[in-house]
Amino acid sequence: MPIDTSIKHWVNKVPARQWQKEDQALFQMGATLPLTIAESRPLAEVHRLDLSLFVVFEEAALRISGALTRRAPTEEALNFSAQQTLDEARHREIFWQRLGDSCQASGKTQTEISEAILTPPLRRFLERCYEVVDGGDFIEGLVLMNLVFEGMAYPLYAYERRYWQPVDPYLAALVHSAFIDESRHVAYGAHLVNQLLQGDSAHQAKVKKLCQEASLAMGEIFTYYIHKFVKLFDSVARLHQDLFATAEFAPGHLIAATPYQKQIEIIQASITKQHTELLARAGLT
Ligand SMILES: [Fe+2]
Ligand SMILES: [Fe+2]
Repeated sequence: MPIDTSIKHWVNKVPARQWQKEDQALFQMGATLPLTIAESRPLAEVHRLDLSLFVVFEEAALRISGALTRRAPTEEALNFSAQQTLDEARHREIFWQRLGDSCQASGKTQTEISEAILTPPLRRFLERCYEVVDGGDFIEGLVLMNLVFEGMAYPLYAYERRYWQPVDPYLAALVHSAFIDESRHVAYGAHLVNQLLQGDSAHQAKVKKLCQEASLAMGEIFTYYIHKFVKLFDSVARLHQDLFATAEFAPGHLIAATPYQKQIEIIQASITKQHTELLARAGLT
């Protein structure tokens, strides 16, 4: 079935319906930072670190998808890049605001914390994305952004939501809201890449190679962050056993009853599975 990428359709479906519904639910929840975070230094630290990673990711997604509009080859691609740019601007803003709530008590600035979470390999990966989109290859830029960067990140959002649910349900709702948009970005991205590479086997082979290399680099970056955060969550869950007593990190898997190495294995296996399926839909396997 063809995808309707008109701006009119997106406005009706996303800002007018989806975001409005989510905003009402968030308003009812209230943005006040839970006392458990304010009162627990280790919990507050994981909260700030994780939010700063969200901000780094969403800001990069915003800058890259904005740049993609410059060389979008079709009306469909142009509209989609424009929509994605606004989606990402909203994600960056909601996580930036929550990071601000989280930073208030620590006396640190949001910028200081966001800089600290950015590792050299992630910085290099993002620089590569900027080079590619600024260089003007729309398809390669879209592959790096939507199929590699987001394609590997979005399965993680589902886990992040579950980890934060018992501690900060407001943040869990923000993550879920972004997850819905990211699912759309990766699906449309795969559709567009597939469509734009039809009949051009030389370009397809070049893009496939780029995608393989970039997926390898991004996989190593995610391995680092997944280990870091699952370990941190595991230690705060042990410190706050009451809070995490019934919390699941995956359907049917309690955080408290799963060794952190096993949690990492399950998360990484699901990223690999979903990413492989996505690349197949894009015609890149
Ligand atoms: Fe995003
Ligand atoms: Fe996105």
